[in-house]
Amino acid sequence: MTIWHQRWSNQQIGFHRSVVNDLLEKHWPTLNVQHGGTVLVPLCGKSVDMHWLAQQEHDVIGVELVLPAAEAFFEEAGNTPEVESVGQFKRLNSGPNTILCGDFFSVPTSLAPCTSWYDRAALVALPSSVRPAYVEQIRNLCKPGSVGLMITFAYPQEQMQGPPFSLPDEEVNRLFSTGFEIELLEQLELEDEKDRGLSNLYSSVYKLTRR
Ligand SMILES: C[S@@+](CC[C@H](N)C(=O)[O-])C[C@H]1O[C@@H](n2cnc3c(N)ncnc32)[C@H](O)[C@@H]1O
Repeated sequence: MTIWHQRWSNQQIGFHRSVVNDLLEKHWPTLNVQHGGTVLVPLCGKSVDMHWLAQQEHDVIGVELVLPAAEAFFEEAGNTPEVESVGQFKRLNSGPNTILCGDFFSVPTSLAPCTSWYDRAALVALPSSVRPAYVEQIRNLCKPGSVGLMITFAYPQEQMQGPPFSLPDEEVNRLFSTGFEIELLEQLELEDEKDRGLSNLYSSVYKLTRR
């Protein structure tokens, strides 16, 4: 059992939000993502942001390791998904929403050929050592010209054990320097989160374009 299975089983899911992320609502419309494409949502949990993306006339493919999380996404929306096994994945689908249940790093391009992606609490959930593999997987699954919206989170790493792990701007620039255009859309100090004992905490919102 992974720490993520344990977290879901113990309902230690403080990362989950019951309302749509306001930074998604604010910035997604500025990305000029064409309607009708497929949005990849890596490490999706049961994020209600996927419903919002579907309402923008996109098909959505989330990837989530933990089956009860994927099931809860549909159940909480009152949907009964069709479930099928595809290789090592379970695919749950209802209308425009699909969740592939399994390891993001093993998703073959044929299962998720995407034209954009949305990362909230995904890359920050991974330690630095596996982040290059995440970027490589985005490159595999998202066609050239795909646009991504990524929301990060940075703090002095020695002040807290992750996840979430700090993802400073320098690391974003390093990770996406080859094969992506990087545009910083907004940066905000997170005053509310300082009660976690962190001296300095900020969030950055990026537009990333896969060349
Ligand atoms: C911090 S949560 C964020 C969930 C979601 N993005 C949100 O904003 O609510 C990270 C999620 O990634 C899932 N996860 C972790 N490693 C994964 C992997 N290798 N493949 C697929 N999902 C993974 C966890 O189970 C967890 O639900």
